[in-house]
Amino acid sequence: MDGTTPGQYFEADPTVESRRRVIHLTLPDVSMDLTTDSGVFSGDRVDAGTKLLLLEAPLPPATGHLLDLGCGYGPIAVTLAHRSPEATVWAVDVNERAVALCAENARTRGQTNVRAIVGDNPEAATPNGLSPDVRFAAIYSNPPIRIGKPALHQLLIGWLALLAPDGVAHLVVQKHLGSDSLARWLIEAGWPTTRLTSRAGYRILTIDRPVEP
Ligand SMILES: C[S@@+](CC[C@H](N)C(=O)[O-])C[C@H]1O[C@@H](n2cnc3c(N)ncnc32)[C@H](O)[C@@H]1O
Repeated sequence: MDGTTPGQYFEADPTVESRRRVIHLTLPDVSMDLTTDSGVFSGDRVDAGTKLLLLEAPLPPATGHLLDLGCGYGPIAVTLAHRSPEATVWAVDVNERAVALCAENARTRGQTNVRAIVGDNPEAATPNGLSPDVRFAAIYSNPPIRIGKPALHQLLIGWLALLAPDGVAHLVVQKHLGSDSLARWLIEAGWPTTRLTSRAGYRILTIDRPVEP
């Protein structure tokens, strides 16, 4: 997808005409129909990186607060909510159409533990319902690499700061979109980062909270 064209999927309010459709996500433990639309990321099929993350990343903690950063129409959030029904899954995106779809997809599956909210950083998400005292046991994300490095770094640092002391983040990033330089940058910024998986042009990066001195 070309991140420089008008009508980008990460606009707050996509003006591109709605074209809703249903796509299918099949995982070893669950399969589901998900409604998507134009103006949201990968609306025609589940993104290959997202699927790899859902196949390869460790299962989410059973309880506590989980974050899907950049939730889109919700494939990660809805899967996390299925896998950890006792946890609260916060699904955050800047794209209002995507957040509405994520909430709808959770609702359709009868999930009451997904909180889908709009916000391009934690401060912006708080008036929309993010509790200010939330600390995340785990963050899962197919992050918006195409917003550019400065914005991406700011976004990640803002949300990683809300990891619980033993919290962990799992990011899937395409190698050709800079997964290795992102890992180096995170390490230099003080966030211990390791490569969990490397497959089919994607890396899954696992980030721990720095140990307090
Ligand atoms: C690569 S897509 C992943 C979408 C979805 N998680 C999936 O797997 O299909 C990244 C998402 O990040 C969102 N995004 C872009 N900038 C953001 C920001 N500042 N805060 C939160 N989400 C943002 C985009 O709107 C997009 O939905």
